Amino acid sequence: MKLIKATAEIKKDMKKHRFRGRSIGFVPTMGTLHQGHLSLVEQSKKENNITVVSIFVNPTQFAPGEDFAAYPRDFETDKKALRELGVDILFLPGGREIYPDGYSTYVEVEKPGQVLCGRTRPTHFRGVTTVVLKLFNIVTPDNAYFGRKDAQQAVIIKKMVKDLDLDVTIRTLPIVRAADGLALSSRNTYLSRDEREAALALSRGLRKAEQFVGDGLRKAADIKQIVKKELEIGELIKIDYIEVVSLTTLEPFDAGNKDAEIDVNNTLTAAAIWVGKTRLIDNFILGDI
Ligand code: PAJ
Repeated sequence: MKLIKATAEIKKDMKKHRFRGRSIGFVPTMGTLHQGHLSLVEQSKKENNITVVSIFVNPTQFAPGEDFAAYPRDFETDKKALRELGVDILFLPGGREIYPDGYSTYVEVEKPGQVLCGRTRPTHFRGVTTVVLKLFNIVTPDNAYFGRKDAQQAVIIKKMVKDLDLDVTIRTLPIVRAADGLALSSRNTYLSRDEREAALALSRGLRKAEQFVGDGLRKAADIKQIVKKELEIGELIKIDYIEVVSLTTLEPFDAGNKDAEIDVNNTLTAAAIWVGKTRLIDNFILGDI
């Protein structure tokens, strides 16, 4: 595995690979890798000649007061895991490499970036799309891999690719969970034992709602209520949002009509909670992203 820190160097390498007709798979991450990230890497390995992984804790997707400084970083363990999976190139840019002094260009996917997580984190997705577009330009992947745990992120990136005619295929993969149901997340490392226990209400509530939908429940408001009830059990939990939205537009089904029904082939049920100081997200999807 080749470790590259400089943009100019990786660009040169990628040019060489493209010249030789090799397909390029790319997995952008912020590190502290877990099986969720690694499942993306494994898929990329299967589908491409060359797999590139980036680790960059992207400052522009954190608002002031969020956890940029505290975000866990464990490069040594990450490197080892990626080497074992046979990753070809690990791109580890420094902050100045991506955002040199005077940097002032941002890319924003307007509408789907302002709902769900975008309401609580209004500058977050602009930071994500900006860095992902830059990374796409640097790595020039044929295929890029994203997890459905961050479903809104995947929808937004797909929209960016479509709107800007980018030459990359976005592949999304299922949420990887711990044995007890908690969706794997680098932020789980913040949780105390009690908080982790309480956090299970999130996956439990969503699973319950999904089962009800499987049994024929269709009213968006009722689906939200099932998740809400489960989350109200835990004292440590504060609900940020619970929404049932169209997977294509991210618009809530019950916005204008409290009796509205979901589209069973195109629905995202997503929730975000605070467990103490840690913000966690999870969802279930009916349909494809
Ligand atoms: P990060 O949170 O490190 O996640 C990197 C990728 O791993 C994302 O596509 C995310 O959806 C996926 N992922 C995380 N947890 C997962 C899980 N439990 N199951 C499946 N996939 C999972 O998302 C980001 O970084 C950043 O926003 C980034 C795209 C790198 C831009 O900075």
